[in-house]
Amino acid sequence: MHFQPSLLLPLVAVATAARPMLWWPNTLAEEQYGTIEPESALPNVSTVVGLPDFQFLAEGHMNLSSYTYYHSGAAGEWSYRNNLETFQRARLRPRVMKMVDDIESSLPTQILGYNFSLPLFISPCARAGYANETGELGLVRGAAAGNVLYMVTDFSSRTKEEISAAKAEGQILFQQLYIDPHNDTATLEQIREAETLGFKALILTVDSAADGNRHRALRFGVGSADSSYSSITWEKYNWMREQTSLPIVPKGIQTVEDAVIAVRNGAPAIFLSNHGARQLDGSPNGFEVALEIHEQAPWVFDSLEVYADGGVRYGADVVKLLALGVKAVGVGRPFMFSNIYGEAGVERAIEIIRREIAIDAANAGIADLKQINSSVLALNRYPFWGQGS
Ligand SMILES: Cc1cc2nc3c(=O)[nH]c(=O)nc-3n(C[C@H](O)[C@H](O)[C@H](O)COP(=O)(O)O)c2cc1C
Repeated sequence: MHFQPSLLLPLVAVATAARPMLWWPNTLAEEQYGTIEPESALPNVSTVVGLPDFQFLAEGHMNLSSYTYYHSGAAGEWSYRNNLETFQRARLRPRVMKMVDDIESSLPTQILGYNFSLPLFISPCARAGYANETGELGLVRGAAAGNVLYMVTDFSSRTKEEISAAKAEGQILFQQLYIDPHNDTATLEQIREAETLGFKALILTVDSAADGNRHRALRFGVGSADSSYSSITWEKYNWMREQTSLPIVPKGIQTVEDAVIAVRNGAPAIFLSNHGARQLDGSPNGFEVALEIHEQAPWVFDSLEVYADGGVRYGADVVKLLALGVKAVGVGRPFMFSNIYGEAGVERAIEIIRREIAIDAANAGIADLKQINSSVLALNRYPFWGQGS
């Protein structure tokens, strides 16, 4: 039989019509850094130009199993890719000829009444020791140097005592908690420990009712760190609030319905997150949830503080979340990868994202981040929810 190229044309058309999957764009990191070997010295941290560079460097520097633990999403990682892509489906509507010279003075913000230099924080991520022997200490110290909030994971490599002791004077840390809803005694112990060690708020992870289904990580035996069913109900949340004066923030709100229920239950804040798409493939990222709230119950943003994360890699991503009414934006993996340098990497990551938030906001014509609103987003012009674009 003769090969007929024309027979392949329909297949080629289908293949090129498919939406290309985006992991991270090629901005020549490989050309700059060449091949990074596990034992080789890392390039000077000042050469890192953007948060994705840290992942490139970490992929070479860390052993494959540890790198995979950080990188992994759930199942086919469709939601993980969606977390990254979402921000590119929402375009900006940059206004020009605005006086934006003073944008940097509007970066500082308050989170639960505490002052920070940025509307950005380090999301709680387990096992910082996989990237660096100093573990979470690099994150605590980097956060202090940049005056940003660090939410410390419950599943830390270093003990909570060590982490708390590494705080700079006056530094504010929040403590993330996984609880066993069937063991109130243990939960009370966790709360008392957080109080004793001086954590200023509890971030209660509620998006992990079951084990995360992480195919990539399972191949290395580094799947979900939280492996039991844990049905944390609003009754349990309210019981916890009766046990402590610390604010308790549910982390992992993924629908407008649950955001509204959180308001009705008097939560001081909510954290929109799909856990970096590590729990449930098909779950939305923080931007999509914020958009749903913006469209269906915008008053939520005035009723409590709203935090969001998932796929944030650039200053413009932060700007887009703030435009919907989000008060502070979390970043997970990039900080974990930056920690291959320890404190210096975390500091550099904060420095990069700080500059990007300022220049991206300025280029979008925003004079004051406190006055930002959704008019800077082209929400109606592009089909957002569907894949028709
Ligand atoms: C390696 C890793 C470990 C994580 N561990 C936790 C954790 O212990 N508790 C938690 O609430 N979320 C955890 N998360 C989810 C993060 O808090 C955050 O929601 C997510 O990383 C944000 O997405 P991003 O990595 O794309 O920025 C983890 C995420 C990663 C990547």
